[in-house]
Amino acid sequence: DAAPVPTGKRVLLAAPRGYCAGVDRAVIAVEKALDLHGAPIYVRKEIVHNKYVVETLTERGAIFVSETDDVPEGARVVFSAHGVSPAVVEAAEARSLVTIDATCPLVTKVHKEAVRFADEDYDILLIGHEGHEEVEGTAGEAPEHIQVVNSPEDVDSVTVRDPDKVVWISQTTLSVDETMETVRRLRERFPTLQDPPSDDICYATQNRQVAVKKLAPACDLVIVVGSTNSSNSVRLVEVALDAGARASYLIDYAKEMDEAWLDGVSTVGVTSGASVPEILVDDVLKFLAQRGYSDVQEVRTATEDLMFSLPKELRADLKQAG
Ligand code: F3S
Repeated sequence: DAAPVPTGKRVLLAAPRGYCAGVDRAVIAVEKALDLHGAPIYVRKEIVHNKYVVETLTERGAIFVSETDDVPEGARVVFSAHGVSPAVVEAAEARSLVTIDATCPLVTKVHKEAVRFADEDYDILLIGHEGHEEVEGTAGEAPEHIQVVNSPEDVDSVTVRDPDKVVWISQTTLSVDETMETVRRLRERFPTLQDPPSDDICYATQNRQVAVKKLAPACDLVIVVGSTNSSNSVRLVEVALDAGARASYLIDYAKEMDEAWLDGVSTVGVTSGASVPEILVDDVLKFLAQRGYSDVQEVRTATEDLMFSLPKELRADLKQAG
């Protein structure tokens, strides 16, 4: 592709970007739990994969732990947006913990698919990143039936009991294009491979990728605001580079911006992952404006208005509190 014609310094700001409905709900759940019950509120794993969110909630009295065993008997614990396996729910019950389940409803949907296909005795190929909390939670629904497929390269090593009874499902925050490539290769091996009943890659992941894909070809540099353990944020960097951005970096904070990245750059794309508060994007825009990139044009590819109601345990508590 030809290099973009220099147009002076400008910023292309992706929309949608930032918070999705599941993250918004999970963060509010911890805040409301703190308001209602006071500190400390325990949270199993990072409520969402964002440093700033975790630091801010910690200041307000949330205590992040890696396992329910780290929560005192009988205390209140929030399960993160990424979901938990039935084993974690049982472990929490065994310690008499009071749980608030902030699992994103779109993750719960994938759990239900897993349970249903396992009941029907399918071999389930879960496309996703081994070790990611969401994948651990989903796989834990039916460990005997589920195997994780990390990438297209993993397809050759998959073995199943009956090649005619195989279904794929996926993590919600993957690259759409790479996942489709994995599915294509799986289908070469298992021609009757069944699709999930609906998209497992969630609307927010898809919308953020579409937006960054649209602006990336015109960008010398694409800044993605997000944490390194945030799957959907990391994917945005990959998508930006695939779509033609000359460079792309993932940063948590504006202070991580390197002046050298701006050498010879006229157009900067900016976006953020689904777990990223807008204040962090504002800081990046300020940093750029101070260096002459004050012309900000929004590139919008979708409008989002999805909202989820709060976790049911919290709604009950709120009702009681009047
Ligand atoms: Fe849910 Fe997708 Fe956000 S699965 S937490 S809406 S990134």
